[in-house]
Order: sequence, then C-alpha cells, then structure tokens
Amino acid sequence: MKYITLSNGVKMPMLGYGVYQVTKDECERCVLDALNIGYRLIDTAQSYFNEEEVGNAIVKSGIPRDEFFLTSKVWIDHYGYEECKKSVEISMQKLKTDYIDLMLLHQPFGDYYGAWRALEELYESGKLRAIGISNFYPDRMVDIASFSRICPMVNQIEIHPHLQQIEAKKWNEKYKLQLEAWAPFGEGRGGIFELPELKKIAEKHNRTTAQIILRWHLQRGIVVIPKSTHAERMKENFDVFDFELTKEEMSTIALLDKDESAFFSHYDPKIAEWFVSMIAERRKQQDCTKEKKNW
Ligand SMILES: NC(=O)c1ccc[n+]([C@@H]2O[C@H](COP(=O)([O-])OP(=O)(O)OC[C@H]3O[C@@H](n4cnc5c(N)ncnc54)[C@H](OP(=O)(O)O)[C@@H]3O)[C@@H](O)[C@H]2O)c1
Repeated sequence: MKYITLSNGVKMPMLGYGVYQVTKDECERCVLDALNIGYRLIDTAQSYFNEEEVGNAIVKSGIPRDEFFLTSKVWIDHYGYEECKKSVEISMQKLKTDYIDLMLLHQPFGDYYGAWRALEELYESGKLRAIGISNFYPDRMVDIASFSRICPMVNQIEIHPHLQQIEAKKWNEKYKLQLEAWAPFGEGRGGIFELPELKKIAEKHNRTTAQIILRWHLQRGIVVIPKSTHAERMKENFDVFDFELTKEEMSTIALLDKDESAFFSHYDPKIAEWFVSMIAERRKQQDCTKEKKNW
C-alpha cells in the first residue's frame, strides 16, 4: 500500500474501499472481504446508513484499530455547530470507535460553517485525526479554506477519466488539500470500462481497464476509493501497485476528459433545491416514525 501525508502530518492510504450503495444486508460481508484482501481505508458516510455495519466488520476482523483509516461524512441534515457535534458522536458509536481518522462535510449546502467549527473542535480534542470537505468546488473550497481557523486537509470530489478536474486540482494543490476521487470509475457510466483507448493500454500491461483507471488516478497523486460488492473485483482493484503507466499513456488518458459530471453539477441551483427537498423528505419520514412510536 502507498500512503500520502496530509497537510497535518497524518498518513492516509492512497487506495481504499467505498461503501456507498452497499446495502445494510451486504455491508458487513463486503467490508470483511475488503479487509481480508488488504484494504485498510474504509469510506462511509452518515447518509449511506451503513456506518453500523462497517463498525461490526471492523470489530469482527480483529485487526487492531490503529491499522485502519476510517472516513465518514456529516450529512447536511446535521449541519450547524450543535447538530454536527452530536452527529459525529453518533457516528463514532455506530463505527464502534472512539476516534475517526477523517471526517468530511459531505456537501457545500446549509450551515456548513457551523458544522466546520464543530469539526475543528473535535479535531483539536483528538477525536478526529483529520478533517475535510466533499463536493466543494473551487469557489466553495477557497471560501472555507480562507475563512476558517483550520484549513481542510482533504477534498473528496467526483473524478474519473471523463471529469479530470484539472482546474480543481490546481486550486486544491494551492491550498494544500489532498484530492480524493469519488466514483473513480464514474460508476461505469459513459461506457468507461469499454473505452478503446483504455482497453489498448490495458492489453499492453496485461491488466483490466479498471486497473488502468485506478493507476492513472494514483499517478496523478489522487486517493481512490472504488466500490464493488464482488470480492474478485475488490482484489482486481487492489492490485495496482506493481506496474506503471508511461508518460504517453498518461497523456492519452488526459485526452479522454470531457470536463463533464457523470451525475450532476453542484453549481446547478436545481441540484441545491434537490438537496433541500431531500432533507424535508427525511424529516417528514422521521416525524412519521416518531408518531407511529407514540401510538
Ligand atoms: N462524497 C460523495 O459525495 C460521494 C459520492 C459518491 C461516492 N462516494 C464514495 O466513493 C466510492 C466510490 O464511488 P461509487 O461507488 O459511486 O462508484 P465507482 O467506484 O466509480 O464505481 C462503482 C461501480 O463500478 C463497478 N465496479 C467496481 N470495480 C469494478 C471492476 N474492477 N470492473 C468492473 N466494474 C467494477 C461496481 O460494480 P459491483 O459493485 O457490482 O462490482 C459499481 O457498479 C463510494 O462507494 C463512496 O464511498 C462519495
């Protein structure tokens, strides 16, 4: 495993296992498979509803806690100082740990400044070893990096061959934030695994296109957290440290950039409204559950 050193001196594995869209039923088994293969960075979030299963797998594995790098993310529903603080304590309980290696603010909407102040305090008290942001595009990143007491150490954003984030990379490097790619394969959208340019490079190295994509990220200095529910693919995705892409191959992949999200843009006001409606919907559901319990 290769490690990078964050701006605060903490070492972070460059390859991890992400559990977005891994169901509660499958999550414990998947994380145990990933740990057996050798993954030590696990990326979850409050909004994935599987922190508890991640925690169960870690306890069951018997691997010492200090060998793991656990990442979670505060959901916007829990923004604001008090709510964020409480929610991190709950995340720790679910993950069965008394510290989290990296806690991120999941989205740049709502009272993220209040939430950031809570993360700063938890960081200073030693409950969080590093703190960061996610989906903060350069304008929001410069804002929070400039107006906070503690500059975020990591920014987790969508990055894959069709969205290479050239500008964002420059800005994050300027402010010394480590970039971490979510959806390093773009979830397979846009036929990414079948791109002839990638297939050709893969054949030359006797590797798969998935491995070529991960290797390309790593050689750009970007942390990756691919997700798979299949142990075979987890193994394949982990096996990317014993070959190297040439300069020419890196340049060929650079030409695949469309500078386009495979999902949606955080600059789109309709997307901001979608996040707001998601929160309203969740609150309604919580109220219904509370009402039912009172019957
Ligand atoms: N911060 C954020 O807002 C945010 C957003 C999205 C994701 N994330 C994080 O980033 C992680 C990764 O992103 P993601 O899960 O959205 O997408 P991804 O890792 O780009 O792609 C996952 C998809 O690729 C398939 N796959 C994995 N390895 C493969 C291989 N070797 N060959 C062929 N197909 C393969 C998986 O299928 P199978 O599972 O069927 O194998 C799954 O459909 C997430 O799990 C989460 O931790 C963060």
